[in-house]
Amino acid sequence: MTVIFDPRDPSVRTDPYPIYRRLREADPIHQSDFGYWVLSRYADVDAVLRAPEASSEFYRNTTWANRRGGPESPLVRSVQNWMLMLDGPAHRRIRSVISKVFTRASVERLRPRIAAETGRLLDAVGEGETDLIQSLALPLPVTVTCELLGLPTDDRDQCRRWTEHISRVIDPSITVQDTADMNAAEVEFRAYVSGHIEERRATPRDDILSLLVHAEVDGDRLSEEEIIANIQFLFVAGHETTVNLIGNGLLALLGHPEQLRMLRDNPELIPNSVDEISRYDPPVQIVSRILTGSVGLGDVTLPEGAKVMLLFGAAGRDPERYPDPDRLDVTRTGTKTLAFSGGPHYCLGAGLGKMETSIVLTELLRRYSKIELTGEDLVWRRNVSFRGLQELPLRLMH
Ligand code: HEM
Repeated sequence: MTVIFDPRDPSVRTDPYPIYRRLREADPIHQSDFGYWVLSRYADVDAVLRAPEASSEFYRNTTWANRRGGPESPLVRSVQNWMLMLDGPAHRRIRSVISKVFTRASVERLRPRIAAETGRLLDAVGEGETDLIQSLALPLPVTVTCELLGLPTDDRDQCRRWTEHISRVIDPSITVQDTADMNAAEVEFRAYVSGHIEERRATPRDDILSLLVHAEVDGDRLSEEEIIANIQFLFVAGHETTVNLIGNGLLALLGHPEQLRMLRDNPELIPNSVDEISRYDPPVQIVSRILTGSVGLGDVTLPEGAKVMLLFGAAGRDPERYPDPDRLDVTRTGTKTLAFSGGPHYCLGAGLGKMETSIVLTELLRRYSKIELTGEDLVWRRNVSFRGLQELPLRLMH
């Protein structure tokens, strides 16, 4: 059986799981028409994430860079300093600084503030109909990210507009218009962040911006270029994913009322349920690598130079790894999801994103005795790397 996989196909956006299953069963190491090897089994995805030959430095690839405005365009220049797109010592240099903010204790200190903001947003929603993406799932992580980075929360809508364009840089489905928009957004966001860097040089505060401005790595400081680039990246990383973990998670639970009831009766299961929903419908569906040397997967060898697409959504439904994988089970143990990646780029904000989602679920179930979906034809966002709903229309009753 020949399997044709195109992540830009609208039916993939609506429900990618049938094609993922066909790939896993018929062609798990698939050579696609668009030039990528596509991997759908858990073990293969995990192996490539950890392979020393797996490079994240896509900006070095001419085709990739040209589609995004060319090697000298503002955004392609910026991503050359994003920790996400660096390998080896250059990557470790930035990661060693930023990881200080994401220790378990530092994340835990944010809990009361996140709970208060969740409460404030839900007070404004009250009872009745709401689009939960706009009223809670999006504004919560945008606010948390602003506060964490040290950007004024009054500017959050503007920052979000910029980073919504900027985030498309990692998407395989970009258009010519996207390329223009993301480069324009980069220039404006850069100027905005520069102003704040000046302020922090003079007066440090307790935020990531100050940390980056004053950090010493290997006896020197990060350059202004490195600071701006990683603030841009962290803004994207901090909210584009969390909004979708909340949205996809709630949608999955509403489709499985018995699981939602179990969480209502046993709220202590909520943190575990967040791991399960990240396996079941992950916010980041696709991560890619370029191989700097050949990598063997069973009897197939991926050659040096191969571009590899790792399907996290497919890996999470692999029956070789998860018994009865299409069943959502909030009591499932040993999930060890790949939704937050693996190997050297394992998500630094996993604890924070999971905590935000747990707080939201806890508070929704505490406040509302009934949560119902009101729309039928759900619209998914256009981005294919990030899977998330455009709107989540709900009716909430006390
Ligand atoms: C809640 C849902 C989240 C998901 C599903 C998620 C997922 C991911 C994934 C898949 C990667 C690695 C990509 C790759 O391997 O190429 C990643 C990296 C990263 N994420 Fe997250 N993320 C989430 C939340 C957050 C939050 C809230 C933050 C910070 C505020 C954050 C910060 C980061 C950072 C800094 C990296 C880069 C790590 C590195 O390159 O070494 N993430 N995330």
